[in-house]
Amino acid sequence: MEKFQKLVEEHVGYLIVFTLLAVSVAMLVEILPLMFQKSTTEPVAGVKPYNALQLTGRDIYIREGCYNCHSQMIRPFRAETERYGHYSVAGESVYDHPFQWGSKRTGPDLARVGGRYSDEWHRVHLTNPRDVVPESNMPAFPWLSKNLADADGVAAKMTALRKVGVPYSDQEIAEGKAMVEGKSEMEALIAYLQGLGLALKNTR
Ligand code: HEC
Repeated sequence: MEKFQKLVEEHVGYLIVFTLLAVSVAMLVEILPLMFQKSTTEPVAGVKPYNALQLTGRDIYIREGCYNCHSQMIRPFRAETERYGHYSVAGESVYDHPFQWGSKRTGPDLARVGGRYSDEWHRVHLTNPRDVVPESNMPAFPWLSKNLADADGVAAKMTALRKVGVPYSDQEIAEGKAMVEGKSEMEALIAYLQGLGLALKNTR
């Protein structure tokens, strides 16, 4: 064994060959299995794709730049889990394209805000945050109640998401428009917020 080590250490050619061999075996063992796996991240039990109304709300969340002040990623630290609940796990955002993890927290993390407040609280808060949180510096979004949500576009969005692996059924896509039709942007956004993080909400 000592002889072998001396040989490898003293001849750079052997060193290269054996290094390549070691790296190749490691690559085979680590990378090959991933190629036969459909997805490296399995959805957490209870995580469902957004319904048509929530999906419409998610796009309003992105349009209004809520992610500039709110993350959706609870870190595995005590201070975070005491405040927000179970830390975020990858399997919760498998259907999020694009995910909204973020890192900027001017406001609180929203990963588990679903069910924390009533719909009415959200409506008042989004219309003018100061009405419920006097010291808030969150901007007001009063136009959301006046704008109708985009019902015509939702089926196409769902079809596109299905292509990247979100398991929408034909029926869900067909019924998407009716679910959004006549709803305000405010209602869509609140539906989205109320669904956030429910799957792991009560497990600390
Ligand atoms: C300029 C930064 C900023 C932007 C942009 C912003 N917020 Fe906020 N948000 C805050 C701050 C600060 C708070 C904490 C004070 C409060 O509750 O109003 C907050 C609080 C919240 C809360 C309450 C969270 C909790 O756990 O109490 C929700 C829900 C919320 N924001 C949703 C939104 C949504 C939806 C949008 C986009 C339409 C948005 N915010 C845009 C700064 C922001």
